Amino acid sequence: MEQQQLQVRAIVRNIGQLVSMAQTPIDGANGPLQVLSNAAIVVDNDGVISWIGPDHEVDAMQVCTDQQPVNVVDAYGCVVTPGFVDSHTHLVFAGDRAEEFHLRRQGVGYGELLRQGRGILTTMNATRTASAEVLMDLALKRLDSLRTHGTTTVEIKTGYGLNMEAEERCLRIINDLNCSPSLPHEHIRAVPTFLGAHSVPPEYRDQRAAYVDLVVEEMLPAFAEMARFCDVYCEREAFSLEECRRILTRAKELGYQLKVHADQLSPSGGSQLAAELEAVSADHLDYASDAELEAMRAAGVVATLLPGCSYTLRSPYPSARRLLDHGLTVALATDFNPGTSYSENMQMMLGLAMSAMGMSLEEALSATTINGARALALQDQVGSLEIGKRCELALWSIHDYHEIGYHFGTNLVQSIMIL
Ligand code: NIG
Ligand code: FE
Repeated sequence: MEQQQLQVRAIVRNIGQLVSMAQTPIDGANGPLQVLSNAAIVVDNDGVISWIGPDHEVDAMQVCTDQQPVNVVDAYGCVVTPGFVDSHTHLVFAGDRAEEFHLRRQGVGYGELLRQGRGILTTMNATRTASAEVLMDLALKRLDSLRTHGTTTVEIKTGYGLNMEAEERCLRIINDLNCSPSLPHEHIRAVPTFLGAHSVPPEYRDQRAAYVDLVVEEMLPAFAEMARFCDVYCEREAFSLEECRRILTRAKELGYQLKVHADQLSPSGGSQLAAELEAVSADHLDYASDAELEAMRAAGVVATLLPGCSYTLRSPYPSARRLLDHGLTVALATDFNPGTSYSENMQMMLGLAMSAMGMSLEEALSATTINGARALALQDQVGSLEIGKRCELALWSIHDYHEIGYHFGTNLVQSIMIL
């Protein structure tokens, strides 16, 4: 490379395989994932990637080190990918639902538990009575687990408070996760989503219209500065299509970006609604029709699949192949929550998508990184390793990325790195 002065904060050297997921070709990189062997990454003082190329070219570089010593990281010939972008979680809650998990194994349905006022409302009770300190502590431990498994960006929904005070408390915690003093340097970026329409709380059981009024008239305006997204649970046991349309329409007017829990347990019309309102993503999609998938494609809605739910509920896995054949952009996420997917592990989702949803490794890696970023409208910042993007890496304890999805049930990520 030509001699040039680079402002450098860090250099990652000796990368055996850099799986860049780059959207524009990189010199010397191969295949749809733009894989570069024996590579290095240079990171500028703002934590942004300024150069990617063959490791041996680093020696010839003249780096400008006026601010601080350059941090040189040795990847020891291992695989490096972008950190996972987990675009759908319900990470702030107290308590657990192990009892319901085992009841379901005896044949009690998830929908049946919701109708009995259990399920989401069990967690709502535990969350409402927990202090902010306890909720924060639990959230930090879960972030730690996400980090350990390779995630560097995570979307987090509210939805277990279901009144003004408790929803606000959860939103504050999600926002505080980005600046808590007890975070390690390599903290995960948390993207806040308001999901007041997750379930009708018991005090509104006989006046659900009044709860929707509360969400639309009080919660949405109050939380517009604290949440980037508004999500709704569009489902027979939760909120009707009309209720969801009203909530999301107001949210859009207030500047929220939109997401929809769509067609998970029954055909709810949520996917069509996501297309109509140009939501950033529609998630679940077990019962979405071909016409709805086509409408989503035309509107540019990302299709997010959550294989942890099918695994936990032992319901048929929706076909990723069907969505891909419709031309949709498909993301994978954990849906980390105490009811339907109690896992922080994106490697597990990737493996399930390959074994049970018809995805190739290349498609599953895209779905967990760059397409996760698209599901959060963050594709200009994260999800791939290329010049101009943030340097948020997963360092793997493997030398060939083809081991991902093949060597299963163990954590192959050695660490994440946010430079
Ligand atoms: O995405 N479906 C709604 N929300 C979650 C489940 C939440 C819960 O059961 O606590 C989901 O599956
Ligand atoms: Fe969910």
